[in-house]
Amino acid sequence: MDVKYKVRVTTGNLVHSGTFDSISITLVGTEGESPKTALDNWGVDFYTGAVSDYEVSCKHDLGDIVLLRLHKECMLKLFATNWYCTFITVTSPKGAEYRFPCYQWMEGCQTLELREGTAKTPAMDTLPLLKDFRIKELQKRQSDYGWKVFAEGIPHCLDVSSMTELESEVKFSFTKGALFAERGASKTIELKLRGYSDSQESWEKLEDIKDVFWFNKSDISEYITEHWKEDAFFGYQFLNGLNPRMIQRCTKIPPNFPVTNEMVTKFLGDDTTLEKELEKGNVFIADYKILEDVPAGLNNERQRYIAVPLCLLHLTKEKHLMPLAIQLSQTSGPESPIFLPSDPEWDWILAKTWVRNADFHVHQSVSHLLRTHLLAEVFALATIRQLPTCHPLYKLLIPHTRYTFHINTVGRETLMSKGGIFDQQTALGFEGLVKLLQKGTKALTLTSLCLPEDLEARGVSSLPHYYYKEDGLKLWAAVERFVSDIVNLYYPNDHSVKEDCELQKWMEEVFEKGFMDQETSGVSSSFSSVQELKKFLTMVIYTCSAQHSAVNSGQFDFGSWMPNFPSSMRKPPPSTKGTANLEDYKDTIPEINITSTILSTLWLLSAPPGDMIPLGNYPEEHFTEESPRRLIAAFQEELKKISNEIEERNKSMAKMGGPVPFGYTYLYPPEIENSVSI
Ligand code: FE2
Repeated sequence: MDVKYKVRVTTGNLVHSGTFDSISITLVGTEGESPKTALDNWGVDFYTGAVSDYEVSCKHDLGDIVLLRLHKECMLKLFATNWYCTFITVTSPKGAEYRFPCYQWMEGCQTLELREGTAKTPAMDTLPLLKDFRIKELQKRQSDYGWKVFAEGIPHCLDVSSMTELESEVKFSFTKGALFAERGASKTIELKLRGYSDSQESWEKLEDIKDVFWFNKSDISEYITEHWKEDAFFGYQFLNGLNPRMIQRCTKIPPNFPVTNEMVTKFLGDDTTLEKELEKGNVFIADYKILEDVPAGLNNERQRYIAVPLCLLHLTKEKHLMPLAIQLSQTSGPESPIFLPSDPEWDWILAKTWVRNADFHVHQSVSHLLRTHLLAEVFALATIRQLPTCHPLYKLLIPHTRYTFHINTVGRETLMSKGGIFDQQTALGFEGLVKLLQKGTKALTLTSLCLPEDLEARGVSSLPHYYYKEDGLKLWAAVERFVSDIVNLYYPNDHSVKEDCELQKWMEEVFEKGFMDQETSGVSSSFSSVQELKKFLTMVIYTCSAQHSAVNSGQFDFGSWMPNFPSSMRKPPPSTKGTANLEDYKDTIPEINITSTILSTLWLLSAPPGDMIPLGNYPEEHFTEESPRRLIAAFQEELKKISNEIEERNKSMAKMGGPVPFGYTYLYPPEIENSVSI
């Protein structure tokens, strides 16, 4: 008598997931294979969102079902329609259920082999058929996804030269792609109509800058247009602005920035001195030394300038971080005055604006591009090349790589390229960008990528009103717990980590292609313990999700009032005091066309993303076993708790007497994406 298997096939519900082509299936068990069987019910079977049931008959029992083959065939290749299958479930006559995650596109006529979904490290696989499957899958991936060098000395990237070469699996969905293209085009046209994109003039009145994006205001951007000159707000941004990793505790005044007690005593409050405040740990410094020797380029064919500022800050009795002194170069002397809050108004505003400009460069190139986008791509590419679909860490990491290849390929085409936004619209130019990325790469350390250690190393763990730190530490702990519990399921001891050759190859590739084999990074080319593995994976997921959100989502909020975040400066940094005035200021900050292009880019990159998946949500069921799925649910609960705490804190923000009346939302879990996708 025939043995009948039930098969349930689910087609994706994104636009264009369905197909009219014919689909057949072959089940592969430990005791043999089924005949190739057409999956054909009445009407169209595989429309978008379809969940369809079929039967596969065999002459004998197939044992445990370990693989299946999907065959997609069409009468005329020209009219083939692609198919996105998400999941297949096979139920044996005895009621055993085998789950096969797919989440892949089938194009043209092809056969796709899928493994049953139970996560397995190489050591857990005993069947030669399955061991062989792992090897073949990785060989194919390694030939489909190669590495390329965009520039020497920076993390390597996916070897494609344009979006059209991207594999369908890693492209933006139709919804996200359409939204992205439409937004980009509408802003360009709008700015053109208003004449902004053609004008190389200085802004006539600073207030006019508000008109560029009058229809896209946020509470924070509005606040900044009114309060941008205030020292308290300037200080606040070091904690909770776009680049919250620049400040560190200062215990000794550096010799190249000779700030004296006489200079700053009146800003410190009564009964104290600079010496005492240094001792008490109330003095902080932001040092933009990384910009040293970075060449400035041309915008509108005119020379731009880069300063390399040092900024000293003081934590006041009211717990506000206030700037005390600014020097715009790394060498002290008569040519490089130390600017103070008591200087003439425009001298001080200009000095602060130079710091904000330095922050623009370091933020965009190092904190954002290098330390989230480019590293995320390295993690993604190593994952796709070195971990087979059945590997537990593939299942853990793959949701955190969604759309990263796509956004970075767009970035290389339009932002990072010669003639791109960095080159034409920021003072870095192409050469400056590459140089800064190289310096940032040289300085990469595991410590600086692991939030708790980074905060300790910078001496800022106890700073008040540092919401980036508060929310970040909670999220780090939640990710760490989730990662640890998942790792515990598959790696009982250090030996099991050491003997996982796929995992070791993954790390070797990450070390070589992302950390450029630099031992100074504190990263190693292999894992020798469970502990090391947990820490590194926590860093990977945190970097791809929370850290990216912290440096990405506020770009329009903090950047739309251009004087708060200028992309280039048209005059050299001042070498004397008493010369700055409003006219000179307007001729120093970016002109009209540069301002408007940068603002549309910042808006595009921080507008609410279409088709987003928030942190900790895994709509694709890569893990099919009960235990990891329970851990996912626990992770989501934890994130919900953190969300509630952030909501409560933000509600009471105005009452707390902090330096600004709005909350901090860039690390609010529902608004953090699982992956770097914008
Ligand atoms: Fe981004």
